[in-house]
Amino acid sequence: MPHFFHLDGVLHAERTPLSRIAEQFGTPTYVYSKAALLENFDAFADACAGRDALVCYAMKANSNLAILDLLARRGAGFDIVSGGELLRVIAAGGDPAKVIFSGVGKTVDEMRLALSHDILCFNVESIPELHRLNEVAGAMGKQARVSLRVNPNVDAKTHPYIATGLKANKFGVAFDDALATYRTAAGLPHLTPVGIDCHIGSQLLDDAPLLEALDKLIELVDALGAEGIVLDHLDMGGGIGINYGAAGDAPPVPVGDYLGRVFARIDAWRAANYGGAPIKVIFEPGRAIVGDTGVLLTRVEFLKPGAEKNFCIVDAAMNDLMRPALYQAWMDVQQVQAGTQPAVSYDVVGPVCESGDWLARERELSVAQGALLAIMQAGAYGFTMSSNYNTRGRAAEVMVDGDTVHLVRRREDPAELFALESMLK
Ligand code: LLP
Repeated sequence: MPHFFHLDGVLHAERTPLSRIAEQFGTPTYVYSKAALLENFDAFADACAGRDALVCYAMKANSNLAILDLLARRGAGFDIVSGGELLRVIAAGGDPAKVIFSGVGKTVDEMRLALSHDILCFNVESIPELHRLNEVAGAMGKQARVSLRVNPNVDAKTHPYIATGLKANKFGVAFDDALATYRTAAGLPHLTPVGIDCHIGSQLLDDAPLLEALDKLIELVDALGAEGIVLDHLDMGGGIGINYGAAGDAPPVPVGDYLGRVFARIDAWRAANYGGAPIKVIFEPGRAIVGDTGVLLTRVEFLKPGAEKNFCIVDAAMNDLMRPALYQAWMDVQQVQAGTQPAVSYDVVGPVCESGDWLARERELSVAQGALLAIMQAGAYGFTMSSNYNTRGRAAEVMVDGDTVHLVRRREDPAELFALESMLK
């Protein structure tokens, strides 16, 4: 069900007109729909019902405490990539026993923090990381549960910046080295190999590459079992894409269909080789949970017609939403209210001093100065990738629940941005 729609000529989030949010909270503001968030999470949870499965939300996509709290209460676990993210999970009341820790560069301090909270598992990406984790765990008198992130060398067929499962990527342990690396892990006294994981890329519209990766993990689990290294979970990573609404884009595979195919394959394998004994399955979705639950609300500052291009200068910029500048990502732009002007093709740009500061190119808009626009599907990798470039305070974030609007992060005051700095004595 769409949670952002036009009603009486005004774009709404649930039952709240975005124009009201702009008046009350100003712009630019990220606006999230609570109903959309829960619906997306439930698509995963429902497909996992009755199974030993865990949905670990990849919180890098959007780590606002209000979102983490809602998901934690729904039973979500979390995929983290830093000590800071673990502190957020705890601050939001999430359960560290449902946390998995991914990332190629975990520091000693981060390992200590995660071990002190007894997280579910470290997704380890290299041999030096195994040794470091073994030492840290040993010094704390602990045993670290580990999974190896295997790089299955499958082509996720997505933007090169967000493809992670090819040999040329920095991520994971090469498929051909996986067995030897597990032997190393099993030989280290303070590590317990418990799982295997992969993450081949993001914004995948088709699940065929994910199922190909699953087959490779299955092959490894069998080979490890034959050596006495018995794993109790298999983690598929994230990657399921969303519909950004670009013309010609294929629709993403429905979450239920994808999970259904994963479970069917796993069930057939377990029945054939393990007398039907199940294995726990973990998913790490980020974008599929939050991507279409948020928009970036922005106001037109100036219209600047030109010989080659017309510019629609808005108060949001690349520091608020990096995806277009960084990946040439196409994001849908909608007018909050219809305009009376003739439609003109505009590049929607921000005030930052970079030619790369654009949010959308060549869009037909009927707008005047002061009009409100919404950059759609901005719930994932929007706020979390924002910065303070040009000493711009970061946008406010609000969450809509029906006709109630909760401020879930107040707008940053520029004076706060340099409060940590000092001049030479
Ligand atoms: N697990 C791991 C280990 C990951 O690295 C990621 C995302 C995920 C799970 C979640 O992937 P998702 O389900 O969201 O596709 N900033 C980029 C996307 C970067 C994804 C990084 N890793 C963008 O805006 O498109």
